[in-house]
Amino acid sequence: MSALSLRLNQALIRLKGFHTLIDIGTDHALLPIEAIRMGYIQRAIAVDNKQKPLDNAKKNIVKARLEGAIDVCLSDGFDQVEATFDVVTILGMGGHLINDILMRAKFSQPVRLILAPNKDADVVRIWLEENHYQIIDESLIIDKRVFYQLIVAEAGEMRLSPIEREFGPIVLKRPNGTFNDYIHTLIRQQEHALKNVKQGDEKDKITARIQVLKGVIQ
Ligand SMILES: C[S@@+](CC[C@H](N)C(=O)[O-])C[C@H]1O[C@@H](n2cnc3c(N)ncnc32)[C@H](O)[C@@H]1O
Repeated sequence: MSALSLRLNQALIRLKGFHTLIDIGTDHALLPIEAIRMGYIQRAIAVDNKQKPLDNAKKNIVKARLEGAIDVCLSDGFDQVEATFDVVTILGMGGHLINDILMRAKFSQPVRLILAPNKDADVVRIWLEENHYQIIDESLIIDKRVFYQLIVAEAGEMRLSPIEREFGPIVLKRPNGTFNDYIHTLIRQQEHALKNVKQGDEKDKITARIQVLKGVIQ
């Protein structure tokens, strides 16, 4: 059993059998440390664009005596990453930031992408669609009252509907209690917003959105 949070654990189990992980936005480096400890991967680069989280990461890596297996790298996204790798994690950021990091990345080898946007997951799925990736696995996680969509993608083609882009094609196929809680949270937010709008157009838009949300849990 791993010592990670439920959210990081969902990413961890999808690393099994890969060789080299690039963890962008590593912060504490807990994920690469646990992945090496469990023997799921052989090597990792823990990347962050700020020195303080990277110092934290380094401390944790030394404490775990894994300096031989995990390097730290101060880098904006993949800018300073020179290693070859076969799996990437970008977890705990907004969808637009994840997209920006992916857009500027220049790797051409086939890699598995494990992405966990804490908002705007639809823009990430659009990027995947347009850049020849196919979603092969997903899960919806609630961690400290924040919902995260975890998306696992590999080289391939897919076409998604707007609703699949927002909630995930696989999550929609196997909705669970967390998914129902997520949709009810979104509905409550919209109902709250509805109370505070006066103009007709805006009211119609919110009402239509509530109908769409109710539609996905029927
Ligand atoms: C909220 S933390 C998430 C930490 C960890 N991935 C997790 O999910 O628990 C986001 C981290 O991403 C880093 N970050 C933000 N933008 C980045 C970028 N462009 N390149 C590399 N790291 C970045 C931040 O410094 C921060 O440490």
